[in-house]
Amino acid sequence: MAAIPATNTETPVLILGGGLMGLALAHALAHRGRAVEVLSRRRSEAAGFVAAGMLAPHAEGLSGALLELGQRSLERIPAWVAQIEADSGLSCGLRPCGIVVPFATAAERDVYPTAPWGEPLDRQALERELPGIGPGWQAGLLFRQDGQIDNRRQLMRALERACVEQGVRFQEGVEVLELLHNEGRLDAVRVRDAAADIHVLQATTAVLCSGAWSAQLLPELPIFPVKGQMVSLQGPREALQRVIFGPGTYLVPREDGLLVVGATSEREAGFTEGLTPFGQRQLQAGLEALLPAASQWPPMERWWGFRPCTPDEAPLLGPGPLDGLYLATGHHRNGVLLAAITAELVSTCLVGDLHPQDEERLMAFNWRRFGAN
Ligand code: GLY
Repeated sequence: MAAIPATNTETPVLILGGGLMGLALAHALAHRGRAVEVLSRRRSEAAGFVAAGMLAPHAEGLSGALLELGQRSLERIPAWVAQIEADSGLSCGLRPCGIVVPFATAAERDVYPTAPWGEPLDRQALERELPGIGPGWQAGLLFRQDGQIDNRRQLMRALERACVEQGVRFQEGVEVLELLHNEGRLDAVRVRDAAADIHVLQATTAVLCSGAWSAQLLPELPIFPVKGQMVSLQGPREALQRVIFGPGTYLVPREDGLLVVGATSEREAGFTEGLTPFGQRQLQAGLEALLPAASQWPPMERWWGFRPCTPDEAPLLGPGPLDGLYLATGHHRNGVLLAAITAELVSTCLVGDLHPQDEERLMAFNWRRFGAN
């Protein structure tokens, strides 16, 4: 086992995971003048490359502290994206297009948890907002403030470039095997590199951004995978202007007509890889019910991934089980939405600059809230 000395004069903050959350944290910390090194196992497995990119605290029907966190992140996204675009010179594909949630009846619409934030639609208004919507929907809620970002094709690439431009260092193909500590304080991490060699990297400060795999490193974290299968279709440009967020299926139209159709929610699948006929049929049935004409559009890509879920479906943010270790994981269905506020709050917490009000807010997402030791 070789011991690798710190690569910088300043021991870098290690980011454990090179997905969306890891990149967002690395970017925020680099902007705060910290040396940052991202350890990434396999980029393609990151939920940031799997998600549909909805920015949907209202359409998702969130409530309580999670709704407030989502709303705060939504407010910050334009400035966050502008910074990434300025650093990288690349567009992130932010599209504030609004999201419509359709309902079978007006009564169902009126009891939706976020109904007070939406504009009620009757069948006629629904048809105006979503030409071609299926006949089973008689009412809807339009959330003009919700939207989408092209995470798979644009945001991830732009954020990675922005990190490089800010001096963030990357180690690809590196699996973190163990967090080494001394009297409860993080000391180092043991890793296996792409050549299967084992190393120990000194680390006094790290952020765990390992998504669905977080509990493999820290079994005390109550995080488990929820598999999602997706498909994309090529539709005519401008066939659909707004996202449709139906029960069990949503349709996210990109600017060029690509329609992202998501997603199954499979808790029992664990980390089982691959597509299933059952999952794909479920997406097809949802698509037909929401937008019948889209069943004729050619499929482009099919994929799957694993959402990092917690018992209350809210993330784990802030100080972790070891001194010097911070958490930014467990975002379940809302990772793309929450990346901006997560990066802001966790990076501020790490540099010790958190406003007392934000400290209190962060407590709602502390990993110990489930009664873990
Ligand atoms: N954000 C929607 C999903 O996770 O399927």
